[in-house]
Amino acid sequence: MNSGLEGVIAAETVLSHVDGQKGAIWVRGHTIEDLIENHGFEGTVAIIWEGFDGEGLTRGKIRDGFGAARKRAFAQMNDWLGAAAKRALLEGVRIALAALPEDSTPADIVSTLPIAIAALVRTREGKSPVAPDPMLTTAADFLRMLKGSPAPDSDIRALDTYFTTVSENGLGTSSFAARVTVSTKASLASAAVSAYSAFTGPLHGGAPGPVLDMLDEIEASGNIDGWIEQKLTSGQRLMGFGHRVFRIRDPRADVLRSAVASLNPDTGRLAVAAAVERAALAALKRHKPGRSLQSNIEMNAALLLDAIGVPRDAFTQVFAIARCAGWIANALEQKKTGRMIRPVSNYVGPRPLVST
Ligand code: ACO
Repeated sequence: MNSGLEGVIAAETVLSHVDGQKGAIWVRGHTIEDLIENHGFEGTVAIIWEGFDGEGLTRGKIRDGFGAARKRAFAQMNDWLGAAAKRALLEGVRIALAALPEDSTPADIVSTLPIAIAALVRTREGKSPVAPDPMLTTAADFLRMLKGSPAPDSDIRALDTYFTTVSENGLGTSSFAARVTVSTKASLASAAVSAYSAFTGPLHGGAPGPVLDMLDEIEASGNIDGWIEQKLTSGQRLMGFGHRVFRIRDPRADVLRSAVASLNPDTGRLAVAAAVERAALAALKRHKPGRSLQSNIEMNAALLLDAIGVPRDAFTQVFAIARCAGWIANALEQKKTGRMIRPVSNYVGPRPLVST
C-alpha cells in the first residue's frame, strides 16, 4: 500500500506538467517565465480555463469577468460577513466560500476570495470594506481593497508575478480534493470549499505564515544552527523545505526570489532568510541523508507577501486567490473527462468473532 499515493497517476491532464527531477513546470505549454512576462495572472487564467469555461478566452475577457464578479461578490457580502468577521481569517474565508450558491460561476468563486480577505482584514481593524474597482486586475484591486488606497506599481507587479507563478501546479493535494469532489457531480462551489479546506494545512498552502514565524524565532534565538538542530533532533519539520514532487529544485522558488529582490525589501530580513536557507539545507542533508530536501516556494512567497504589506495570517488565503483558478481548471477538466474517484482501502481491523 502507498498511503501518500506517491507516483500514482490519478488523472490525465492538459493543464500543467510538473517535472520534479528536472525542476520544470509547463502550464499548457508555457513556462512560468513566459506566463509572467507575457500573460500575467488574468492571461494565465485565460490559458488554463480555455475550452473548459468557454472558448476564445483572453486576458482582457478574464480581467473584465473577474471585475464584474468582484462587484457581485461585494454585493453579496452580507450573506457571510456577520458570521465570518467573528472568526479567525482562515475560518472566515471558509465561511465566505461556503456561502456561495450551487450555480456559482468560476469567476464568482475566484473573485469571492479577494473580496472576503480584504473585507475581513479591514473589518477586524475597525475599518469599512472598500468596494471593488472592476477595471483593475485582481492583484491591483486586491491591494487597493486591502489598504484603502492604490498600491505602488512595484507591489502590484510583484503580487501579479506571485499569482501567476502559483496558479496551477499539477495534481497538488488541494486540486486533487477539487477533482474528488466534482467527480461525484457535485458543484464547483463545493469543489472550491473542499480544495480550500485541504489547502489550509501547514504541509500545503498553510506554510508561508509559519515560515515567517520560523524566521522571527530563529532571528530572536541568535543561533541559526542551534535552532535548526534542535528542531530536527526533536523530529519537527522546517517550514519552507521539501516537496512531494520537486526533489531537486522548485523552479518557482527562483522566480519568486527575483520578484522579492525587485521590491527593495528589508535587506536585514533577506540576509537572515538567506543564512537560514543555507544552514537548513546543510542540516537537512545531514539529518535525512537518503532524501533530497530542497527549498520550496514558501520562504520567498512569505518574504514577498510580507514586503507588500499582506498580514501574515492572510498569506495562505492570498495564495488561495491564485490557486483557486487551478482548482477550478482541474475540477472542470475532471467533469469533462474523468470518472468518479473511488479507491479502496485495505482492511486491517478485527474480524467478526463468529464467522458466517
Ligand atoms: N523538515 C524536516 N524534515 C522533513 C521536511 C522538512 N521540511 N520535509 C520532509 N522531511 C522528512 C520527513 O520527516 C521524513 O523523514 P523520515 O523519512 O525520517 O520519516 C522524510 O523527510 C520524508 O517526508 P515525507 O513526509 O514523505 O515527505 P513528503 O514527500 O510528503 O513531503 C512536504 C512533502 C509535506 C511538503 C514536506 O516536505 C514538509 O512537511 N515540508 C514542510 C512544510 C512545507 O514547507 N510545506 C509547503 C509545501 S509547498 C506547497 O504545498 C505549496
